[in-house]
Amino acid sequence: MNHFQDKVIYQIYPKSFMDTNGDGIGDLRGVIQKLDYLKYLGVDYIWLTPFFVSPQNDNGYDVADYLAVDPLFGTMEDCEELIDQADKRGIGVMLDMVFNHTSTSHQWFQKALSGDPQYMDYYIFRDSPQGQPPTNWESKFGGNAWEYVPSLKKWYLHLFDVTQADLNWENPNVREELKNVIRFWKEKGVKGFRFDVVNLISKPEVFEDDHQGDGRRFYTDGPHVHEYLKELVRDTGIDQMVTVGEMSSTTLDNCIRYSNPEEKELSMCFNFHHLKVDYKDGKKWELMEPDLAALKKIFATWQEGMAENNGWNAVFWCNHDQPRIVSRLGDDKTYWKESAKMLAAAVHMMRGTPYIYQGEEIGMTNPHYDRISLYKDVESLNYYEIMLEQGKTKQQALEILEARSRDNSRTPMQWDGSDFAGFTQAEPWLSIPDNHRYINVESEKEQGDSILQFYRKLIQLRKEHTAISQGTIEFVETDSDEIMAYFRESKEEKLLVVCHMKDGCLPWEGLEETKDWDILLTNYSQESRGNLRPYEMRIYRKKY
Ligand code: GLC
Ligand code: CA
Repeated sequence: MNHFQDKVIYQIYPKSFMDTNGDGIGDLRGVIQKLDYLKYLGVDYIWLTPFFVSPQNDNGYDVADYLAVDPLFGTMEDCEELIDQADKRGIGVMLDMVFNHTSTSHQWFQKALSGDPQYMDYYIFRDSPQGQPPTNWESKFGGNAWEYVPSLKKWYLHLFDVTQADLNWENPNVREELKNVIRFWKEKGVKGFRFDVVNLISKPEVFEDDHQGDGRRFYTDGPHVHEYLKELVRDTGIDQMVTVGEMSSTTLDNCIRYSNPEEKELSMCFNFHHLKVDYKDGKKWELMEPDLAALKKIFATWQEGMAENNGWNAVFWCNHDQPRIVSRLGDDKTYWKESAKMLAAAVHMMRGTPYIYQGEEIGMTNPHYDRISLYKDVESLNYYEIMLEQGKTKQQALEILEARSRDNSRTPMQWDGSDFAGFTQAEPWLSIPDNHRYINVESEKEQGDSILQFYRKLIQLRKEHTAISQGTIEFVETDSDEIMAYFRESKEEKLLVVCHMKDGCLPWEGLEETKDWDILLTNYSQESRGNLRPYEMRIYRKKY
């Protein structure tokens, strides 16, 4: 067994986790303060999104200094104390390495701007007349992906915000600099790394227009990406640590290579195909009812495909870029509790390492903002303008943001029912939904059937059942698209996980084979073997 198969990882977005100095912004001391809570929850690792020096145009994913803590979040001493205190509780700290790009405020880019050829070669500069970008590629945050620098008469590539300049990984000096960043943090005692959009680091040799799409087919899982990852892992000696790559628009074949232990690249990968089943024609900014048949098919393909080829998935629904899952695939009103639990079980029982994003474990919902002034995210603000330009009304654009904005998951952690949810003493940087009065850690700690208790149970089950941590996986054909079911099997036991993904009741006879199996877990207080109730989930178990 690989060392991470029975582990559970918790994602912390420090800005929204816990504020200790009353400026409305979460900080590292806030994370230290909540370590006992994380221990109580039972997670093994915490992944912190970037808290390095940054102008915060993309909330820290625009790094200006990889080796220093942004004063907004605290000091290096706070960070050291956090690593140490986490370690004392058996929790490993994982850091977020944003290596596809730096902030344009980074000193490397500043030197490049002054015309220093050594540093210009750290980035991707191309010649092309002003007004004519080198290619028609689109930035993932909207608009063209190139920016003109008049003093240099050149363009630089930015796949994300204009203040996030893509690094030139072809340059061995760049690769060496980035290895030094890893070495620095490894020295400090961190136990793992998450690599931001790491499958975009290798750009093609020739840059050409994309007449079929936005350019991503030229740089996604690019020509040297596997080579670069192997080199980075080998030269920094992180092959025994937990590493996860965020893979944008990737393929199964590439993810097998990224995560198969024989390749010596990463422990596991995030992919996002299952989170596009409500994108109309693949477009994030067009709403559609979730296609549950497609969802099941994607899970089956990835789960079985990775298993057959010894790859390993990071399994998840939520992160700081995705809307809250209970508001998206569940029902955040009538069946809030049932649907949050069912969705949790659906991924926690899969083959892979589960990730919990802060607040998911208490069933936090989208805030349902009704005004543009409440949004802060650069992507949301850009697309709001783009949608208006495309002729959508303000009302339509707001409805789309309400469902799709990244701010949906970035609202402050709901610790208790007090005015600022126990997150801060002052006005928080992003507004907190009213439901914090009843959706909060304090009250869910006390209720035996809360979502929080259910998550604790799921974590515990992974530690106790080899079928969950190490077992094979096989998806089951069901009569309805609304039922997702799969078997997990090890030498000791066999489980059948059944998830009813919608409201209403559905006939369910069970499977012939499972008629006399025990029920290990369900999200309803009364066990039933008959029809599936709204958003019901059951785990059947046979012991060998
Ligand atoms: C990843 C991060 C996201 C960020 C982007 C650019 O997708 O998760 O928050 O904006 O990379 O760094
Ligand atoms: Ca603070």
